[in-house]
Amino acid sequence: MEVIIRPNKESATTLAANLIADLVKRKPTLVLGLATGRTMEELYDKVAAMKLDFTFCSSFNLDEYIGIETIDKNSYRYYMNKHLFDKVNINKKNTHLPDGMAKNTIIACHEYENQINDSGGIDVQLLGIGRSGHIGFNEPLSALSSRTREKALTPTTVAQNSPLFDNPEDMPKRALTMGVGTILEAKRIIMLVTGTEKAEILAKAVEGPITSMISATALQLHPACTIIVDEEAAGKLQEREYYRWIFENEPEWEPYRVV
Ligand code: F6R
Repeated sequence: MEVIIRPNKESATTLAANLIADLVKRKPTLVLGLATGRTMEELYDKVAAMKLDFTFCSSFNLDEYIGIETIDKNSYRYYMNKHLFDKVNINKKNTHLPDGMAKNTIIACHEYENQINDSGGIDVQLLGIGRSGHIGFNEPLSALSSRTREKALTPTTVAQNSPLFDNPEDMPKRALTMGVGTILEAKRIIMLVTGTEKAEILAKAVEGPITSMISATALQLHPACTIIVDEEAAGKLQEREYYRWIFENEPEWEPYRVV
């Protein structure tokens, strides 16, 4: 795992967008793992503005609410169309989200895993972190080897996301989510975290002991995980001087320092 600290949300998001752009250019058939949420909105704006060629790319989203139609503006399918798919040249047939309206969620989740495998696996997985420490909707006590499945959402997550609904009461309390084990199989992981409200959970996720109480700690097990944060989110990291040094001195970051 490496942590990269940028001065503010804008520069952290730009760095994440530039990394994605380079991956898409290097591999036109890139399989993207995608996240939703407020943190991703600016990232998708920047990626869309880059006019990248997504013709041969495919994507798999982390999660979807249960019981919300895809045309509902609170569904993650709606979010993805609005923030990314409608703005780039990706073939929507190659974009996948778990089926939150499936009659049998066990079968739907199994099929989702099969589709990921059939695509050759996720090349790069984008992640945000929830205030509960979740990645995807892997709430506390999600097994570190868990696969795509139905998950009940914590009160912390309901409090985080319900303000996005016209009527907060309408927020579903269950979702389908890739498992922690599914996420860890991505070849590369890029997590973007911004804002002071994430500082405490980020420090636990990055520098604390690995525990199923905080799913994001499992990222410490991944061999190619980059966590991009702004100074606000980095506020409680013990080793932040070292992380700053990495970005300023390691040759792999040289092309990204000039922007
Ligand atoms: C959503 C997802 C979640 C979010 C997390 C942070 O698809 O995977 O784990 O990334 O809840 O959400 P924001 O960015 O709204 O703080």
